[in-house]
Amino acid sequence: MAATRTFSIIKPDATRRNLTGAVTKKLEDAGLRVVASKRIHMTREQAEGFYAVHKERPFFGELVEFMISGPVVVQVLEGEDAVKRNRDVMGATNPADAAEGTIRKEFAESIEANSVHGSDSEENAKIEIDFFFKPEEIVG
Ligand code: TYD
Repeated sequence: MAATRTFSIIKPDATRRNLTGAVTKKLEDAGLRVVASKRIHMTREQAEGFYAVHKERPFFGELVEFMISGPVVVQVLEGEDAVKRNRDVMGATNPADAAEGTIRKEFAESIEANSVHGSDSEENAKIEIDFFFKPEEIVG
């Protein structure tokens, strides 16, 4: 099967605790290759735009505040079945429900401060990659 791409964010709770390398190692050990990466501090507009699908949800305001509370690392990951592979190694949204060995089980602090984002479909992966990266910033 051909390699596909997905989009990942190492969230502020993880960068704050200096876990960028530890999270990235989990991704790499799961068979994903980092083909683009940058550390940014999202603006409110970026965070609101990125999470626009959740804007009617009760947690939207706090989620945006959290995502702009510190730096994040946005990444493009490549690998076989990259979207599913990444979702599997991330673990469930709520770390209390996450399986052993997953990033969220090992590192997440709460359902909100859950260390990583990962696209939930190939279609959304394309949209999310385009939101943060120019084509020339991705080196496969
Ligand atoms: P969601 O897309 O449901 O989860 P996932 O990140 O696993 O794809 O939600 C997006 C983010 O919104 C989630 O990572 C953390 C936040 N969130 C909350 O803060 N509270 C909640 O009750 C839910 C469902 C999500």
